[in-house]
Amino acid sequence: MAAFSFALSRLVARNVTRVSLLRSLGVSSTQLGRMGEGSTQNLSTTSSSHSKKEWYEVTYERADGTVFTVKGKEGDNLLDIAINNDIDLEGFGACEGTLACSTCHLIFKEEDFDMIEDPCTDEELDMLDLAYGLSDTSRLGCQVCLTKKLNGIKVKVPEGTADARG
Ligand code: FES
Repeated sequence: MAAFSFALSRLVARNVTRVSLLRSLGVSSTQLGRMGEGSTQNLSTTSSSHSKKEWYEVTYERADGTVFTVKGKEGDNLLDIAINNDIDLEGFGACEGTLACSTCHLIFKEEDFDMIEDPCTDEELDMLDLAYGLSDTSRLGCQVCLTKKLNGIKVKVPEGTADARG
């Protein structure tokens, strides 16, 4: 038990989120939803503080010009926000946020891209290399959490998807 607590505290220190940890253990978005997990709370965050988080607006624009403006909770990632709002994006988020597919590829405006607080990890960069329609302001939706600075952003969903799993 002490070893587990130590490992857990190391993950917290590395800012690993509860959801990414659960996802790495094979827990799906749906299962996370049933567990009451919004998305990317830190391990040290309590559920009561999560419920006090703000809601912000995000607009997803499909390649055909259709736009979906929805609300997402602070700290939720852009994949979960799309799923939670039943946005019709074919093939989007195929690996359910486990950083294994690149189908959650989103293209940001340059000014919004610079506001993203979540760093792009080597693992995300590897996946982005395989994404359809990669741009200089591309990120994976499952790796970008909504923050106050991103309130009101508009992201483009590329016309196609490339599922890195083959
Ligand atoms: Fe598969 Fe984001 S959902 S990499």
